[in-house]
Amino acid sequence: MSASRPGTPSRVRRGSDLPDRVRIHPAALAGSVAVTGDKSLSHRCLLVGSLVDGSVELQGLAPSADVAATADALRLLGCTVELEAAADGRLQGRIVGPIVASVADRNSGAGPIAIDCGNSGTTLRMLAGLVAGSGHHVVLDGDASLRRRPVDRVTAPLGAMGATTHARDGRLPPLEIVPSTLAGVRWDSPVASAQVKSAVLLASVAAGVTSEVRSPHASRDHTERMLRHAGVDVHTVDGADGSETVRVIPTRPTVRSLSASRDPSAAAFWHVAAACGTGTISTPELCLNPGRTGALDVLQAMGARISIDGSREVDGEPVGDVAVAPAELSAAVIDGALVVRCLDELPVLALAGALSAGGLEVRDAAELRVKESDRISVLATTLRALGLAIEERPDGFHVPGGQRPGPGRVDAHGDHRIAMTAAIAACLGTGPVDIDGFAAVGTSYPGFLDDLAALGGRAEALDG
Ligand code: S3P
Repeated sequence: MSASRPGTPSRVRRGSDLPDRVRIHPAALAGSVAVTGDKSLSHRCLLVGSLVDGSVELQGLAPSADVAATADALRLLGCTVELEAAADGRLQGRIVGPIVASVADRNSGAGPIAIDCGNSGTTLRMLAGLVAGSGHHVVLDGDASLRRRPVDRVTAPLGAMGATTHARDGRLPPLEIVPSTLAGVRWDSPVASAQVKSAVLLASVAAGVTSEVRSPHASRDHTERMLRHAGVDVHTVDGADGSETVRVIPTRPTVRSLSASRDPSAAAFWHVAAACGTGTISTPELCLNPGRTGALDVLQAMGARISIDGSREVDGEPVGDVAVAPAELSAAVIDGALVVRCLDELPVLALAGALSAGGLEVRDAAELRVKESDRISVLATTLRALGLAIEERPDGFHVPGGQRPGPGRVDAHGDHRIAMTAAIAACLGTGPVDIDGFAAVGTSYPGFLDDLAALGGRAEALDG
């Protein structure tokens, strides 16, 4: 199906240096930790940067495998991407675009460019839009987990714009995108997905067409903010019914530097540990985009003591220093529009539910079943292996309160957020937890074990 073209090898490792089997011990975590660069923003710095004609300085990017997958993909599509580790471990450098395929590229007859998106759904879905709009011929593929995740939510709007795509069984990767001329679209998305919305926005900017995407709820608006920061005309209208409509009137982005603040979804692991009683933990320079602060809102509603200082704006995104202190936690229900604002944090929030007095109920979260794993089923297996009760539902789960994790052995099932949830369970529990498949953490947070140690946690690598 595909012929690959040679690309410059990534300077950033895509494999994980993390041990694949670890034992984590109970610990009273406390202190301050500057977590990794935000994954969503890091992808967008590269993708939006690739649309700019000329060099864009990049700062604060996560040194993670998922972000490296996006960087490698853009190199294969003709951009220069130079990234190196800064003193704090995050990546800095530059990207030189634009990504738009030349007439010579389009007529070269070289066949599709094979792009390996690894484990990264964000890379595959957002790149699908960018590639469709920029006229490249590609096949986007990934690992076994990514090959199970639907792409029809992206190919449907791109098809309505005039893109020709071929997916396995019509809905799964590998996904071939054939060069086509795109027109603008008014798309009513059945899911509130930032990835889908972003795919349409990036396709529209790349192709120079005006489009509109309506979603049932607001989702993280990083792409809109970054495009606006780069000089593109993007408008958002919030409907009285809770829906969100985003309209883009494209011009070429003209920005000269883009940066990522630190990742609130990575910090959420420490926030839950702190709220559940390990000790006060502060996390500076977090991205506090309203689409990302749902977990903090949930913890606060449960009674956690949270302070946010130094609120400021960096490249169009709200940023602040967040500290969480232990408290008696009460019950919570997460449903409706709140789900989208804490979707990635739901596994670790389940632990807050278990340690609370009243438990946690999650509804309207069927999307969890198409993440890096079936996160409802894998979370249930993981918690049960540690002696915790959890009731699995088609669109969520219920975790009764008044529980504490015990020792045990779990398998991350290739899912970074399940691996890190198990590590936090160990810190909060009564005995060590052995985690198989821990290397998956490298997809978003390669420094997790260093940060754990800095907060007073104890981990040891186990033999394969
Ligand atoms: C992301 C959006 C979310 C999130 C994912 C990152 C993004 O996915 O779960 O980890 O960067 O846009 P959906 O948009 O598919 O819900």
